[in-house]
Amino acid sequence: MQKLQLTLAIIKPHAVSNPVVLSFIRNILKNKFIVVKTKRVNLDTETACRFYQEHVGKFFYNRLTTFMASGCIDLHVLGHVNAIHLWRKILGPTSVYKGQFQDPYCLRGMFGISDTRNVAHGSDSEDSAEREIKFFFPEFSFYHWRLDDEEWFR
Ligand code: PPS
Repeated sequence: MQKLQLTLAIIKPHAVSNPVVLSFIRNILKNKFIVVKTKRVNLDTETACRFYQEHVGKFFYNRLTTFMASGCIDLHVLGHVNAIHLWRKILGPTSVYKGQFQDPYCLRGMFGISDTRNVAHGSDSEDSAEREIKFFFPEFSFYHWRLDDEEWFR
């Protein structure tokens, strides 16, 4: 029996506003993951600051939170046996510059503009995924998605 792992993908404002990049990303999501939930939101700065509170005090905190509140973002709860690792692998390293050298075909390597405008976010652990999904989808029931269910993978 395989367990469905969940992760949160956030498509950042510059990618949401670019139709070519957005449809490229949507194709990947549709083909590689079970897209469990999707929602488009326009964060206010206060919400962006709460979401990124683990980065308070870092030099990029203001830049990152202001940017995340600068336009619409797409939120996706993604399911796969290995959702967290797979989505982060598709994204590539946080640093766009590194991505361009390590794996030019990762999303950040192809479409990233800077370490802030790096296309999308992906949860980095099961604990983060649960916290982040609850942050944006407080009504989401984890119980259901934790069931071992091979049918998802047929
Ligand atoms: S870190 O340094 O390990 O905390 O960084 P990381 O977890 O990889 O990244 C967290 C988010 O911070 C953004 N970030 C940056 N923005 C601007 N400049 C620099 N140097 C920088 N480093 C990291 C990065 O876009 C990450 O955003 P999310 O939305 O989490 O992907």
